[in-house]
Amino acid sequence: MLEFQKVTRRFGANTAVDSIDISVPTGQMVGIIGASGAGKSTLLRMINRLIDTSDGCILYEGVNVSVLKGQLLRNWQRDCAMIFQQFNLVPRLDVITNVMLGRLNHRSTVASLLNMFSDEERAMAIAALERLGIERAAMQRAGTLSGGQQQRVAIARALMQQPKVILADEPIASLDPRNAQIVMQSLADINKRDGITVITNLHTLDTARAYCERIIGMQAGKVVFDGGPNDLTEAAARRIYGAEGLEDAFSEAVTSTSFAASRPAKSAAFVAAGLEPATAERPAMKKAAKA
Ligand SMILES: Nc1ncnc2c1ncn2[C@@H]1O[C@H](COP(=O)(O)OP(=O)(O)O)[C@@H](O)[C@H]1O
Ligand SMILES: [Mg+2]
Repeated sequence: MLEFQKVTRRFGANTAVDSIDISVPTGQMVGIIGASGAGKSTLLRMINRLIDTSDGCILYEGVNVSVLKGQLLRNWQRDCAMIFQQFNLVPRLDVITNVMLGRLNHRSTVASLLNMFSDEERAMAIAALERLGIERAAMQRAGTLSGGQQQRVAIARALMQQPKVILADEPIASLDPRNAQIVMQSLADINKRDGITVITNLHTLDTARAYCERIIGMQAGKVVFDGGPNDLTEAAARRIYGAEGLEDAFSEAVTSTSFAASRPAKSAAFVAAGLEPATAERPAMKKAAKA
């Protein structure tokens, strides 16, 4: 169980995450949705302590992970694998080395510095790549792979950590639909077969509905929706994205990363709702911006 107790994060005068209280049972697959700037990334990053909490705490199996230091903090960060929108691989290193880097927190510093990996770790990396269906790219430089392949490598690297929790921050926002599907299926498979808790920020509602048993909607740092895929009706989605009354302009395909709260707006309808189309060049975006 991962418990959030009044978790708050402020950046100066701006409250990015505002007193959130939720509990995530072990083995759940949770999708977090909400407009750009709602606080999704900040919430995710507080779990593995890429960002510290300003107030409140996060407990894992009763342990307050918000105050861990030194080796205990490193152990917790090993237990929480993170997957990013931009993959975060080392482009000039080959795929298998990138995957083995997932073992860094399991090894001594000396072995890591000398970049020595055991045969066992190599076998483990190959098995992870096979599971993601990209073992044939093992010797290729990571930077030469397509985005979809790179994200699968990043998931293989996450598996090498043997994590208890996988945190994914918009893992498919940079991928085409086919690769997005492969990546989400991989995460869902890992969740089901390995029982690993998966918490993922998502930018489209259909993905959240299709893959997540629980969906949390955030707006201005608060949880404004918490339910199953069937509870996420269009009306509920409008409330999460603050797009009530925008019958024509609001499109289910245009959510989260397609909206940027602080950029200059192009559409009067979006301005009226405090939402503005971002510069992202998604076909759906263009269609909706014309509406
Ligand atoms: N490092 C930071 N410094 C200052 N403000 C930040 C920082 N990270 C996030 N914020 C602010 O916190 C709010 C939530 O951001 P974020 O968690 O990135 O939202 P989301 O992932 O939902 O788009 C935004 O107003 C953003 O500008
Ligand atoms: Mg974000």
